[in-house]
Amino acid sequence: HPVRPMTASTTHGSTQRFTAARVRQDFLDFFAQRGHAIVPSSPVFPKDDPTLLFTNAGMNQFKDVFLGTGTRPYKRAADTQKCIRVSGKHNDLEEVGVDTYHHTFFEMLGNWSFGDYFKEDAITWAWTLLTEVWGLPKDRLWVTVFGGDENDGLPADVDAERIWLQKAGVYPKRVLRFGRKANFWEMGETGPCGPCTEIHFDRGGPGTNPMDGADPKHGVNTDDPRFKERFIELWNNVFMEFNRLDDGRLAKLPAQSVDTGMGFERILSVLQGKRSNYDTDLFTPIFARIEELSGR
Ligand code: ALA
Repeated sequence: HPVRPMTASTTHGSTQRFTAARVRQDFLDFFAQRGHAIVPSSPVFPKDDPTLLFTNAGMNQFKDVFLGTGTRPYKRAADTQKCIRVSGKHNDLEEVGVDTYHHTFFEMLGNWSFGDYFKEDAITWAWTLLTEVWGLPKDRLWVTVFGGDENDGLPADVDAERIWLQKAGVYPKRVLRFGRKANFWEMGETGPCGPCTEIHFDRGGPGTNPMDGADPKHGVNTDDPRFKERFIELWNNVFMEFNRLDDGRLAKLPAQSVDTGMGFERILSVLQGKRSNYDTDLFTPIFARIEELSGR
């Protein structure tokens, strides 16, 4: 089906319009229409990569392309990757069961550019899909950009910041800077990496202030577990420019590339107006069947 913008008849928070199957297909169609090859998920056991136990991100299968040691017959790709984050640099295991949006096994929607488009297209397409195709309210979205890192000798990502403000038209107070921990993405201890820009959604709630996102105590990327259910990261756009070497130094990659990842279960919960990923139609039929079989 063609990806259509939401109309008055496709109200927000609808399970009918935003079924899991449809949202997954919307994502792939959107990027296919923008010249991306749609590729299969790679296995959750990475082939030929001793630095990883399990596949932890969509970019794993393209590591060689980012490093410049391998090629593909396309310069743009998109997929939905099955991921397991239970070990190594990206370990979500301690969060599972504690909140409503971390999983041991999940799907990551991704689009990639291999030395082709860079920050401007990546950012404006992410914004178009979320706000125009899926109709998410702009006043519920917050974006973060890399604020620089002294140890790595890296400046703040003023290009990404400018694109958010001038091309996407995001209100300045909604663009927040964070350091290396939140906004510099690395696949493992070594390997391709780069500054990233994330999109967070504010679930709001009774008595909340829409500008709370900027408050470090209870806003975006807060450490306080009491507020973690409110602002959730939906999408991460990484601007792959470096390779982290064994000795910790950064080497320039041969090309500037884009690596994105959106939590499929999270965007579904937002589009279906559910507070928990487990209440979406990705999980409810499984729970219903377990109830049927167990009688409990
Ligand atoms: N590889 C990036 C991530 O997993 C997009 O967040």
